[in-house]
Amino acid sequence: MSVASSAEAAFQKHYGSAPAGLWAAPGRVNLIGEHTDYNDGFVLPFALPQQTVAAVAPAREPGWTVHSDLADEPVSFGTTAPGDIGGWAAYVAGVVWSLQQAGFDVPPARIALSSDVPLGSGLSSSAALESAVLTALTDLGGFDLPVEKRPGLAQRAENDYVGAPTGILDQSASIRCQEGKALFLDCRSLEVEQIPFDLAAAGLAILIINSNAPHQHVDGEYGARRKSCEEAARVLGVPALRDVPVEGLADALARLDDEVMRRRVRHIVTENQRVLDTVELLRADRVRDIGPLLTASHASMRDDFEITVAQVDVAVEAALAAGAYGARMTGGGFGGCVLALIDADRAEETTAAVVRAYAEKGFTAPTIWPATAAAGARKL
Ligand code: GLA
Repeated sequence: MSVASSAEAAFQKHYGSAPAGLWAAPGRVNLIGEHTDYNDGFVLPFALPQQTVAAVAPAREPGWTVHSDLADEPVSFGTTAPGDIGGWAAYVAGVVWSLQQAGFDVPPARIALSSDVPLGSGLSSSAALESAVLTALTDLGGFDLPVEKRPGLAQRAENDYVGAPTGILDQSASIRCQEGKALFLDCRSLEVEQIPFDLAAAGLAILIINSNAPHQHVDGEYGARRKSCEEAARVLGVPALRDVPVEGLADALARLDDEVMRRRVRHIVTENQRVLDTVELLRADRVRDIGPLLTASHASMRDDFEITVAQVDVAVEAALAAGAYGARMTGGGFGGCVLALIDADRAEETTAAVVRAYAEKGFTAPTIWPATAAAGARKL
């Protein structure tokens, strides 16, 4: 059964009537531009076909009730404040709260959720959930809320309600991506350019390799990276590391005493440039040529930003050894997924090579599938 059908069926089962509508929002992979979002920099994600679907109808009684196919018990809540609701339902309550904080009169609603976005794999299952609920409530409430303002509200739910200090990448991807396109986002101006990203036409494919190593960024490491970047920007006297151009990198590094901080800055500054270079190549229809940039991004995350783990490094190395044009970890790090750019007809060999490398290391087997650039949040 499709995710949409199971959300609809769950609604019918739990509430005894049909939903008013179905709203879907996807998970994402980030092609390149990691940890640049909270440095006011550039990112280039695309949406995955895997999505969260919210079946929703207005409720007569006040408050919100949510069923999830991943939880045994529904959660009901009225108007809440950060800290009142925990667990998965915090992402839903957080969106209601965030909309209310922005001055919207959020209609009471019944919600049933279904999702096939892998959890805890760095593919933004939480942003998919927030974005599906936000889109549904915005439509139901008839809010005048332009699409470019929506990711910020979903991000606020995650930052201030759930308490994860993430940037605006994931929610922007889930809400603003378009089918067949990669989303070039300037995280400062929030301007976007939809970059045609037709892999099949070029005889190429992107494999997603889920390392199946546990991924968790609501812990200290993500926050520590963010702090280090903000501290570096303060020392350098710029609003954000975005303001250090790659030509100014050597000077900037010379002004920093701390070796760790120097490495963090080098990653962000070079990564922003790699996003710009990737966009240039894609605009020129030179998809294959982005491979070395992907691989350089991985090396930078591994050596300078220090956010990779053995499982993702092994996946990258095995994919490259099997002939991939480029490969890199995608997402927040410390586990999660790798993407590899390959010739479409090399998917089987590449998959086998990565599986073999994992077996040799004694790692839990990876999960591997080809990704296509799918649509962003929408009413079905
Ligand atoms: C996580 C965060 C994003 C972004 C990425 C790293 O996915 O939620 O905001 O910082 O990590 O690029």
